[in-house]
Amino acid sequence: MASTILVTGGTGTLGRHVVPLLREAGRDVRVLSRRSREAADGVEYVTGDLLKDEGVEEAVAGAKIVVHLAGGAKGDDEAARNLVRAAARAEVKHLVFISVIGADRVPLSWLKTQLDAEQAVIDSGVPWTIQRAAQFHDLVLKVVRSMARLPVVPKPGGLRFQPVDPRDVADRIAGLALGQPAGRAPDLAGPKVYGLDELVRGYLGARGKRRPFMPVRIPGKAGRAYRAGDNLALDGADHGTRTWEDFLDERLGATPARADA
Ligand SMILES: NC(=O)c1ccc[n+]([C@@H]2O[C@H](COP(=O)([O-])OP(=O)(O)OC[C@H]3O[C@@H](n4cnc5c(N)ncnc54)[C@H](OP(=O)(O)O)[C@@H]3O)[C@@H](O)[C@H]2O)c1
Repeated sequence: MASTILVTGGTGTLGRHVVPLLREAGRDVRVLSRRSREAADGVEYVTGDLLKDEGVEEAVAGAKIVVHLAGGAKGDDEAARNLVRAAARAEVKHLVFISVIGADRVPLSWLKTQLDAEQAVIDSGVPWTIQRAAQFHDLVLKVVRSMARLPVVPKPGGLRFQPVDPRDVADRIAGLALGQPAGRAPDLAGPKVYGLDELVRGYLGARGKRRPFMPVRIPGKAGRAYRAGDNLALDGADHGTRTWEDFLDERLGATPARADA
């Protein structure tokens, strides 16, 4: 019988799409969560906290595949180190980790923690696969929603994104988890590149609203890196199928006005 697959972050935006795919593939799935939950739909929950290093050994026990999708505002490097230590001890055969495109190119402290988490996976001694992805539509929606509440929307010159649908990323992650360890998989971004202002305009259009925009400049090294497109997928990346417009249409029930309107 195939062993259980542990999914950290199985309750999150991405993980919620990955877990049913693994179930559909006939695998037993265990999810690590900080909150206790009843088993449901063939999914077992283990309570624990990767940052506090609590419940991690119990979560990993007996799992040959670990899919690490948990993440937060801080400490993802430490969380990864705690997980990989337990995974190595439990002789896990494949560790799949989701990271972020540009982790090694954009000098932001949160991205540095993603890069350090990648390194922890690479150094773990457990056979690994790392998938870097662009920003998920859901995260972009949160950001543009709060920007659209402002009376004047800042328009950071040169800031571009390639938002990707978490369902496209989930398909990729589930496929990787069920395959052999693959090292660094090709980056996965959305099908189109948008200026941040275009993403906000698409949202405003879908809500039937208009706002004035004010050009601003992001200072420092991070600003330079973003203007250079260091957060974008390079040649050789793969692209999801669902656009920002598809997502807005589905989520907000309205076809957005053209981004350049
Ligand atoms: N969002 C993006 O645009 C994006 C883009 C590329 C890569 N990623 C990466 O993808 C991963 C998932 O992102 P997401 O948007 O799906 O995240 P999310 O919706 O914010 O969910 C976070 C998940 O992490 C779990 N978690 C957080 N802290 C934990 C801890 N200390 N111990 C155990 N579990 C913990 C949460 O579980 P409980 O709340 O149940 O404990 C939850 O399932 C992150 O690692 C992120 O870096 C995200």
